[in-house]
Amino acid sequence: MNFNKSKGIVSIKDLSREDILSIIKDCEKVKEEKKFFPDNKNNVGSNKKVASLFFENSTRTRVSSETAAQNLGFYINGFAGAEGTSVKKGEPLIDTVRMFEAYDYKAIIMRHELAGAARLAADHLNIPVINGGDGSSGHPTQTLLDLFTIYEEKHTLDKLKIALVGDLKYGRTVHSLIDALSLFDVEVYLISPPGLDMPQWRITDYCNMSGKKPIIASNLKEIVALVDVLYVTRIQRERFPLGIEGEAEFKKILGLFYINKDFLERYAKKDLIILHPLPRDKNNMEISIDVDNTPYAKYFIQAQNGLHLRESLLSSIIHSENLIINHNHNHNHNKRLPGSLNLPIIDGQKKGDKFLYRLDEGTLIDHIEVNLGQKLYKMLSLDKITDAEVVLCTNIRSKQYGRKDVVAIHKLILTPEQLYKIALISPKHTINIIKNQKVIKKERAILPSPLYDLLICNNPLCISRAEHKEFARSIFYIESDDPLQVRCHYCEEFFTRNEISIAF
Ligand code: CP
Repeated sequence: MNFNKSKGIVSIKDLSREDILSIIKDCEKVKEEKKFFPDNKNNVGSNKKVASLFFENSTRTRVSSETAAQNLGFYINGFAGAEGTSVKKGEPLIDTVRMFEAYDYKAIIMRHELAGAARLAADHLNIPVINGGDGSSGHPTQTLLDLFTIYEEKHTLDKLKIALVGDLKYGRTVHSLIDALSLFDVEVYLISPPGLDMPQWRITDYCNMSGKKPIIASNLKEIVALVDVLYVTRIQRERFPLGIEGEAEFKKILGLFYINKDFLERYAKKDLIILHPLPRDKNNMEISIDVDNTPYAKYFIQAQNGLHLRESLLSSIIHSENLIINHNHNHNHNKRLPGSLNLPIIDGQKKGDKFLYRLDEGTLIDHIEVNLGQKLYKMLSLDKITDAEVVLCTNIRSKQYGRKDVVAIHKLILTPEQLYKIALISPKHTINIIKNQKVIKKERAILPSPLYDLLICNNPLCISRAEHKEFARSIFYIESDDPLQVRCHYCEEFFTRNEISIAF
């Protein structure tokens, strides 16, 4: 197994196919032992303490995790809902989790409403964090028990047709699941009510990882006749916009994709299995109660597998001597120092076409894409410079690019932060350092990775957003320079050059 167990399970993206298969094999052993020796107690916990911090509601994840910990001989403490805790006095997440480490807890199992909460906690702790769901972002242990159940039923995770049905926009279980499925040779079908589609960036991630496109479908009759696994999810009403708008959205989709016994007997493939992370919503039952006793229904076995999976995982995480740092290895998150690409100086003279941007000494930002000069000028706060002259010229003739914008800054060398901003805005820029009317250096800035404090995540429910006041420093990984693609360390969403928000 490759992943850093000492950090816990924060995101399914931290796991490889081999990691997942190895977790499934471990869980198989635990389940098998339980079958034959149900009363056997494994005392790996030997009264060590594990914290169960559920800032958001839960039945299955919390109770199965706590029962797993108790079965292993751990002492478990924490809270089910923030009511009654100092969170209600405004305590930041990092202070809450630090307390449990200080009280000698050996691991934290947590659920939080903000995306990236478990990642933030793990960054600040030296004990493992097990993510029991972070907003709409992910639910990695749910995915592991989902995959375990599929493996148990189908004896493979390859060559299967798997449909994800329901709220694919807000449902965190399907988000982790599609990530994990990208590591297996499966065909994925996506069916959702209008407006609750799988986010495009997650589909792009799936395509990039698997080399395949998921099939977007709408006809449930056709799908149940075709697929091996139907993974149904509840409409996550609690994540809809508040007020009349959210209420209207919800009403529009009530009753869509309702599955009952009659429907399955008429249309479903004989060996279809139906999974559901549960809970069902009694106000909008996506699977009728009369399906529960059919051979299709595997969702209660799936929920029970959560206990075995969490027992096996907790035991292995606490026992781990494995300190390999290998986070986010599904993505190219290698560290990269800032730098610059040295460009050839053709004649060294930089008198300029126009007197306006002729420089005796200073920095000339050349070859800015037309119409981006103004944005760059603002982002670099050049309008606030008082002790140097700055000239912005737009739509100038360029031998290389036809047209370009240029910014000439007299008697000023840019800071590293300004250089990063230029690289974020203008991929074609060249920076000329000029002395005595001669170019002494010509370069193009290269962004470091990770990139700290320069970008604002566009996901309003990402824990790094200032309005959440959780002291999560902005961290983005550069996954590609041209075209630019950056990924948020916390919520894992990626953004292109046109989508990024640069912090002033
Ligand atoms: N599947 C799941 O996460 O259920 P709970 O919300 O009850 O924990």
